[in-house]
Amino acid sequence: MDDKPIYDLFLKLNLPIRSICGGLGTCGKCKVLIQKGSEYLNQVTNAEKKFLSNEDLESGYRLACQTKINAKYIDILQELKPPHFRIFLPSELLFEDFNILTFGIRKKTVLNPAIKKFFLDIKKPTLDEPIPDFERVIAEIIAKDNTIKEDQIEIDFNLINQLPNILRENNHKITLTLWNDNEIIECEPNDTTENNYGIAFDIGTTTIVGYLVNLDNGKVYSLASKLNSQTAYGEDVITRLSFIKNDQKGLQKLNLAVLNDLNNIISKVCEKSKIKSSQIYEATIVGNSVMHHIFLNLDPINIGLSPYIPVIQKGMNIKARTLNLKISKNGYVYIVPIIAGFVGADTVGVILSSNINSQKDLTLAIDIGTNGEIILGNRKFLATGSCAAGSALEGAHISDGMRAAAGAIDTIKIDPQNFDVSYSTIKNKKPIGICGSGLIDAIGEMLRSKILTRSGNFDKEFIDQGRILRRNNNIEFIIAKREETSIGKEIKISQNDIRQIQMAKAAFYSGTRLILKHLDTKLEIKRVFLAGAFGNYINKYNAKFIGMIPDISDENIFQIGNAAGTGAQSLLLNKDLREKVKKLLKKIQYIEIATKEEFQKEFTDAMYFPHFNLELFPTLKEYNNIPKR
Ligand code: FES
Repeated sequence: MDDKPIYDLFLKLNLPIRSICGGLGTCGKCKVLIQKGSEYLNQVTNAEKKFLSNEDLESGYRLACQTKINAKYIDILQELKPPHFRIFLPSELLFEDFNILTFGIRKKTVLNPAIKKFFLDIKKPTLDEPIPDFERVIAEIIAKDNTIKEDQIEIDFNLINQLPNILRENNHKITLTLWNDNEIIECEPNDTTENNYGIAFDIGTTTIVGYLVNLDNGKVYSLASKLNSQTAYGEDVITRLSFIKNDQKGLQKLNLAVLNDLNNIISKVCEKSKIKSSQIYEATIVGNSVMHHIFLNLDPINIGLSPYIPVIQKGMNIKARTLNLKISKNGYVYIVPIIAGFVGADTVGVILSSNINSQKDLTLAIDIGTNGEIILGNRKFLATGSCAAGSALEGAHISDGMRAAAGAIDTIKIDPQNFDVSYSTIKNKKPIGICGSGLIDAIGEMLRSKILTRSGNFDKEFIDQGRILRRNNNIEFIIAKREETSIGKEIKISQNDIRQIQMAKAAFYSGTRLILKHLDTKLEIKRVFLAGAFGNYINKYNAKFIGMIPDISDENIFQIGNAAGTGAQSLLLNKDLREKVKKLLKKIQYIEIATKEEFQKEFTDAMYFPHFNLELFPTLKEYNNIPKR
């Protein structure tokens, strides 16, 4: 018998705990407190010594992924009376009150869904007109909508056997659901035309949102969101790819996790709107290329290996039953096409929502999630690329970093005179960590207070004074004192954390510069769209101040929310947009940023913070255009 990692036990219990590295022992985030049973566990590992302080270890803290129940005790434990262990999970480890961005700006979409419902009073057959059931149904549909071509209509084979009974049991008054003007996918008694729904999904690496949309009026009737259960296997796509590579059933496990999440969201929206899931006739799916592949159960391994090749790019219509998605069993799922290995269907959604391809001026759209995607263009040209920037902004590799959940410090202000800190937290809970918008504020404020130099180093003059301390071979700035937090220790930003944020902002800035160079255009960026959760809550003024986005006037920077999700809704409401996307794909240039010759130089240059005349900027207090959560 093998040692049993307690991390695996949490997975079995379906406890969504933090795991940035997927249990490899390299992120230090899965900290748990062993209150009972430590004698049955393995010795503290080197990975734990690296991430846990002596104080932590003495108090009984361990890393869940490194802590194993010793095989030799497993039989003995079975004979002892339970409970054998008591393990305390600190609140920052669990994703309670997780803040998921569901809001997005959807421009008015012309309604032309792939789903049409017809209430038909069908002519009964006679000896004089012995027309078969199916042909009589078709004749009625054509009589109602003459744009539909008679010879193109087919019927799902699962339905054909039911048709005679439904017709006769309901006095030939039935409602038919037609998909894409060519396939009858549902046949219901009486008039059910007012129940015509579709669902648009945005499968993010970290979060999943589903929007239940009425296909007759285009309104979102309800929505539901949840943490992507795959996070238990690693927070970013690279970790999940390596999980798939190293576990024989890895793809199957991740596919099942996402499928359960989607079906769970379907149940929730149906319950909220009091409809049956069988009344959802179509789903649209956007997600990055790895999420896209995992949902389709396609092996994504080659996306992670140069030259980063996906299995398929084009959009697909797949029967919901083939994918085990619990909507109408004869319904369809439209899989939105992807652009490249690291620029997926979510970017297609952002392009549609931002309408960047119709802009006269050169426009930049950045989707800031766990991965960062950059789109640059106007009505004449369009280019995209991706940069590995998002995970630091979601708290990965930041000592007190966390995602946007209750208790995360999300805005920070530093008094330049005495370096006093004021902050706010999500849901006004006692602080447990800092999320991305708080990190950007912290860096902006430290620069403005001159605690940091342009190179990102703490100014030597202030070290070992007040909140700036040299400890454990690192320099730290205390944001929240121990007594203010709910985790029994202070919350700080270290020199290493600052480097991580510098790398993230440099990735966006240098990525944008390299795409500009590739396009060889003299045009200047006149407009910026910030999409995704982080882009929505970020203080755009501080994002400019630290050199993450171009320095253009505030009124030309738009925070457009979950643009990928709104793009998925538009594709549900207007099937013509799917044709438009096909054409767009031919126009988009994909640029592999990291392999560009000048990448290293551009990236290193972008690590510096820009020169700004501090007098020209208002203080954060005066700047109150910060979106509220
Ligand atoms: S160190 Fe345990 S999940 Fe990363």
